[in-house]
Amino acid sequence: MSDRVKEVVPDLIYAIRSTLKKHGVTFEEYGAAMQYLIRVQETGEVPLFVDAFFNATIVEIDNVTREGTQADIQGPYYLNSEAYQIISERLPHRPIDENAQDMVIRGQITDTDGNPLAGAELDIWHSTPDGLYSGVHDGIDAKYCRGRVITDAQGRYSVKSKLPVPYQIPNQGPTGELLEQHLGRHSWRPAHIHFWARADGRRDLINQAYFENGEWVGDDCCETDHLDLVVPELIENGARVMEVNFALDPALAIAAE
Ligand code: DHB
Ligand code: FE
Repeated sequence: MSDRVKEVVPDLIYAIRSTLKKHGVTFEEYGAAMQYLIRVQETGEVPLFVDAFFNATIVEIDNVTREGTQADIQGPYYLNSEAYQIISERLPHRPIDENAQDMVIRGQITDTDGNPLAGAELDIWHSTPDGLYSGVHDGIDAKYCRGRVITDAQGRYSVKSKLPVPYQIPNQGPTGELLEQHLGRHSWRPAHIHFWARADGRRDLINQAYFENGEWVGDDCCETDHLDLVVPELIENGARVMEVNFALDPALAIAAE
C-alpha cells in the first residue's frame, strides 16, 4: 500500500497544484475551499461528497479488466448481507404500496462464454414507489424492496416487485450546494434497480439497471451514464418487465505475495 501511496499521491498533489496555478487561485479562495471541506466533514457528508464525484471513476477503472457485463456504482444503501432473505416470488413491499405499479425483474446469469450459471446468487434492492430506501429512510423496515434470488438450472431468475422512481440524493448540505448552486447541476438519479451478483469461481458484479425513457436517464447526478444498463420498455399484464442479464467474468486470481 505504501508503494501505491508513493506512486499515486504525488501525482494527485501535482494535479491540484497545476489547477490552482492555472486559475490563479487567491488566498481568499483557498480559505473558502478549506472552510467548504470543513463543512463537508462536519455535516457527515464525506462519503456522499466522495461518492458523488469519484465513485463512478473507480468503477470505470475496474471495468477495464472486465470482459463480461460492466459494473456500475454500488451506492450507499446496500446495508449488509443479512438484510437479504431468499425470495422465490416477490420482494416484500409495504402494505401502503399494494396498488403501486407492478414490476417483474428477470433474466439470466451466465459466464463470459454464455454458459448458464445455476445456483448463482443475486441480491436486488431498489427504492420504494415514493423514492425511499428501506433500512435507511423514515424508519422503513429493512426487509422491503430487498431480496436475494437464486438462479435455476438454466441460470435464470424472475421476481416481482413494485416500480421505483427517480431518487434525489441529499441536497440540503454542502455536496448539494456545490452541485446545484455552483456547478449548475441537479441532484437527481434516474429510477434504478441495484444488483449484486455472485457465483462460485466468478468475479462479483455490482450493477444497476435503468428504465428506458425514464426521467434523468442519461443525466444522472452521480455521472454513471456511461455505465448504464438501460432496459427497453416492455409491459406484460400491466407489469413493467425488466430483463437484466449478467455475464460474470472468472474470479480474479489472488496475486502471489
Ligand atoms: C446515492 C443514492 C443512491 O440510491 C444511489 O444509487 C447512488 C448514490 C447517494 O445518495 O449518493
Ligand atoms: Fe440507489
